[in-house]
Amino acid sequence: MKIVVTAGARPNFVKVAPLIKEMQRYPALLPVLIHTGQHYDHMMSEQFFTELDLQPPDINLGVGSGSHAMQTAEVLRRLEPILEMIKPRAVLVVGDVNSTLGAALTAVKMGIPVAHVEAGLRSFDRTMPEEINRVLTDAISDLLFVTEESGQQNLVREGISREKIHFVGNVMIDALQASKPRWKSSSIFRRLGLESGLPYAVLTLHRPCNVDDPVTLQDLLEALQVLARHMPILFPVHPRVKPKLLRQPNLFWPQPNAGESLPGKGISCLDPLGYLDCIALMSRARVVLTDSGGIQEETTILGVPCLTLRETTERPITVTHGTNRVIGTDPARIVKETLLALEHPSLPPPPPPFWDGRAAERIVRILNAYGASHRSPVVRTHRQSTGVSA
Ligand code: UD1
Repeated sequence: MKIVVTAGARPNFVKVAPLIKEMQRYPALLPVLIHTGQHYDHMMSEQFFTELDLQPPDINLGVGSGSHAMQTAEVLRRLEPILEMIKPRAVLVVGDVNSTLGAALTAVKMGIPVAHVEAGLRSFDRTMPEEINRVLTDAISDLLFVTEESGQQNLVREGISREKIHFVGNVMIDALQASKPRWKSSSIFRRLGLESGLPYAVLTLHRPCNVDDPVTLQDLLEALQVLARHMPILFPVHPRVKPKLLRQPNLFWPQPNAGESLPGKGISCLDPLGYLDCIALMSRARVVLTDSGGIQEETTILGVPCLTLRETTERPITVTHGTNRVIGTDPARIVKETLLALEHPSLPPPPPPFWDGRAAERIVRILNAYGASHRSPVVRTHRQSTGVSA
């Protein structure tokens, strides 16, 4: 039973790693890993495969960067002939990136069942490209694997039948737990010259709403500079954000391997980190400031205060059962909330239901049973004539 597993962007690789490993334990399942190529830099892609002990992709579609329409369309165009050749029993997609929607749409149009891992999350903000990807992917999926209670509720409200929905937990936490011995022994602290016990904050920013408008970015950086007077802020920079930061004053850019220690205060911009270094760095931070979705979840389990620099979260469980606070982007509020979090750290609550490192087990068990009880799909392409009829 061939299952095509697709992944395109950094957080996708983290999610598919435990799933592929689990599928390999089932003699009846043959996972075929297809990388769309949405992320392609070594530190955004290959490094994750190595560190997560994930087999290299069987196929790379090489889609690369582009507008959202182009990126999504290229996934559709390049994936279709491959699915036609492989004729998988199902296509499994994860998360909410453009590659997720592109792969799901290709499969459903060919009559191939779609399984969506991390279904049902909603920010209710349709200006976010990810929200569009989530709503549309869920609408065309046959198996919807949800990470938290809100996901079930959202899907039921949208009219998705309950039999398709499976509350299984969070594969991102599977990856975090499985790699614990390795991130615990990361050498990132030594490489950055971070003295043990030195308090620091970690910052990540990449959402278009925060980094694309120069005024918003400037406001955010001003608030962060105020905080950086209290403790150093370490900022691994996404490649799309780097050109926007190079014009900004008062940012420190340490040279790789220059043996140079970080300054005791201020914002230090780092190259993108690998998975293990990133988790290690967050695990010892006093606070994490972010606009990422996955980091809200990872800090929940790491027990590190997380302040989300957005107006909404699609992951409300990280607020009710975790360490996350959604504080928006108002500079004065960012400063106030961060100082408050530093002064009054709260004890991390117990993990959310099913965030126990066994989500992939549950998913693959269900997928296997689904495959065994459903006939192979008749894969179709509905080729249209391109000729002009007289
Ligand atoms: C994508 C996802 C976002 C996710 C993020 C994780 C969408 C709509 N967005 O955002 O939900 O949180 O991945 O990181 O799918 N670039 C490189 N090297 C790379 C990849 C990207 O330089 O390996 C640069 C290019 O300039 C590219 C830009 O980053 O145009 C944006 O990349 P893209 O994949 O479109 O979106 P992300 O911002 O990474």
